[in-house]
Amino acid sequence: MNKTTTLLLLLFPLLFTTSLSKDLCHKDDKNALLKIKKAMNNPYSFISWDPKDDCCTWNSVECGNANRITSLDLSNDDVSAQIPPEVGDLPYLQYLIFRKLPNLTGEIPPTIVKLKYLKYLWISWTSLTGPVPEFLSQLKNLEYINLSFNKLSGSIPGSLSLLPKLEFLELSRNKLTGTIPESFGSFKGKVPDLFLSHNQLSGSIPKSFASLDFYRIDLSRNKLEGDASMLFGAKKTTWHIDLSRNMFQFDISKVKVAKTVNFLDLNHNGLTGSIPVQWTQLSLQTFNVSYNRLCGPIPQGGDLQRFDAYAYLHNKCLCGAPLESCNVIIQATDLYL
Ligand SMILES: *[C@@H]1O[C@H](CO)[C@@H](O)[C@H](O)[C@H]1NC(C)=O
Ligand SMILES: *[C@@H]1O[C@H](CO)[C@@H](O)[C@H](O)[C@H]1NC(C)=O
Ligand SMILES: *[C@@H]1O[C@H](CO)[C@@H](O)[C@H](O)[C@H]1NC(C)=O
Repeated sequence: MNKTTTLLLLLFPLLFTTSLSKDLCHKDDKNALLKIKKAMNNPYSFISWDPKDDCCTWNSVECGNANRITSLDLSNDDVSAQIPPEVGDLPYLQYLIFRKLPNLTGEIPPTIVKLKYLKYLWISWTSLTGPVPEFLSQLKNLEYINLSFNKLSGSIPGSLSLLPKLEFLELSRNKLTGTIPESFGSFKGKVPDLFLSHNQLSGSIPKSFASLDFYRIDLSRNKLEGDASMLFGAKKTTWHIDLSRNMFQFDISKVKVAKTVNFLDLNHNGLTGSIPVQWTQLSLQTFNVSYNRLCGPIPQGGDLQRFDAYAYLHNKCLCGAPLESCNVIIQATDLYL
């Protein structure tokens, strides 16, 4: 063996190791991810997470600028675990998604408050319990919060209205109680799409909602009561309003619905009065006023006759197409006089 060969042989293992350690992934991120994998009992989705490989190539994660982990998405897995606190040790995380994990239990860990760049928090279809954390209001980059289809309880933190970039707030299908926070009457940023359906929220809608223009609002299937007429108004640009299955009580006779409204579901409440003629000017895809205490003729025209009787049934005395003609009802009443 000559000198050069010997040198090459000596150097070879070194070259090999160097090429291996040419990870793009930051070692702190890799360490945190490996701890997460272990704490979650090696979910099937993380099978590609081999410590020998660059973590930017692993499934369920993505690297962004400077090769830091910016996204962690664990979905559709039968993992039985809690969300490990080490999730908070991925300081550049922008997207955190835990979805369709029926055996994910425990609470949303407080270490998430360290994720200063978090934009997108989506935890749905899990068995998570505990509150919607107050500390989320400290994550000033949050644009999207979706904590639907979990088992969260307690009340909605009013401080969420302080999030300057919030565009979607979805807390549907949990066990939330209490009222809609008064502070939601003035969001720091733009008015987010608000989805609070299928909870046990009670009380009335803050009066200050009169000055808000929601694009989509879904308060269906709660125990809300009182007036909701302030959600309407000819000058708003709302597209979707679902107030169905609550205990709202207000007279709709003078309620003007914005022409932009396409989805209007008011079924199962205690609404009184008659359907305004103005509503014939709407382009409606979904419309339902059944199970209220409405009375009087259904205005004829526009889209109002596009819906069948089931959209109008079980009111006090609505009449006219698609229900029976008003004359018939008057005649029938006359018979008893
Ligand atoms: C969840 O856990 C229950 C009992 O702990 C078990 O019977 C079930 O198979 C698990 N489901 C999944 C999807 O892993
Ligand atoms: C929130 O998540 C649920 C469940 O995955 C989904 O159906 C819903 O469309 C999401 N909401 C928003 C506003 O994206
Ligand atoms: C209106 O709501 C009632 C009650 O939930 C339901 O039975 C009916 O099918 C709905 N009708 C339409 C047209 O959506």
